[in-house]
Amino acid sequence: MNRITQLFNIKYPIIQGGMIWNSGYKLASAVSNAGGLGLIGAGSMYPEVLREHIQKCKKATDKPFGVNIPMLYPNIEEIINIVIEEGVKIVFTSAGNPKTWTSFLKEKGITVVHVVSSSVFALKAQDAGVDAIVAEGFEAGGHNGRDETTTLTLIPMVKEKIQIPIIAAGGIATGRGMLATMILGADGVQVGSRFAASIESSAHNNFKETIVKVKEGDTQLTLKELAPVRLIKNKFYQDVQDLYEKCPSKEDLTQLLGRARAKKGMFEGDLEEGELEIGQIAGIIHEILPVEKIIQEMMTDFEIACKEKTKFEF
Ligand SMILES: Cc1cc2nc3c(=O)[nH]c(=O)nc-3n(C[C@H](O)[C@H](O)[C@H](O)COP(=O)(O)O)c2cc1C
Repeated sequence: MNRITQLFNIKYPIIQGGMIWNSGYKLASAVSNAGGLGLIGAGSMYPEVLREHIQKCKKATDKPFGVNIPMLYPNIEEIINIVIEEGVKIVFTSAGNPKTWTSFLKEKGITVVHVVSSSVFALKAQDAGVDAIVAEGFEAGGHNGRDETTTLTLIPMVKEKIQIPIIAAGGIATGRGMLATMILGADGVQVGSRFAASIESSAHNNFKETIVKVKEGDTQLTLKELAPVRLIKNKFYQDVQDLYEKCPSKEDLTQLLGRARAKKGMFEGDLEEGELEIGQIAGIIHEILPVEKIIQEMMTDFEIACKEKTKFEF
């Protein structure tokens, strides 16, 4: 037991990050059933779709699960109301100001966690009254901080500043990665990319097959002027780079991005024109696996690594 397993009443301190187009009820319930904490990613769901996923998740698991709400998406009020009406007990907010919704959600008895990319934002989240924070480094898949602070440096810096539990994210796909961040001060981990390439992820198979082929250097953080995001270097990414050569305005970039690029890439499997979000750690993800196997392998690796004390005796 530690602060994170106690906070969520789960077996292992492994949280599956909310991921647009990847984390529906199937992924979230599989993670919760395997002893972690599954999160439904509300960011790609219309409000009524989210309601359906919450209801199906309740049927698929009797273990705790939560909902991730990126605050940059529309319909936030409707989404929050559904979460409350459906009796969701855990909410992870991201991409926005933690002050906006934390006290409202806490008054409803919900455990609130906020995702940050710096120790300054971590302090703001703690001041806003969240129960824990996710400190997400530059390696991570999806939207990211502009400062390019890596997980290895972010966790000890956040640890210096705040007292509430810390969940490390970005670049963690193994038990060893988990142990490393916990030694640096994290109480648990949030994993995204590894679960995107799981059987239960709702992503298109084309995207999953691409993840397992990604090698070191195949992803890049881009579109910093809009919302920084780490993408696989496919044709769409190259189109963005070509546009940068022409010193584009924000409007030019917005126009190129257009609508529904992420859906096109990750959900519909258009590997050329779609946005393919994945973290640097995809370089060590070689197989699409069932969630239970991913979590079991992580925990076995974690336990073996914990026992390798002789490595540290000089
Ligand atoms: C495909 C994809 C979609 C993501 N979508 C979201 C999202 O909707 N909301 C959010 O807070 N984080 C999102 N993230 C970030 C993850 O929740 C998680 O923090 C991150 O993936 C951890 O880093 P890792 O990819 O190295 O494991 C996304 C990540 C990926 C790979």
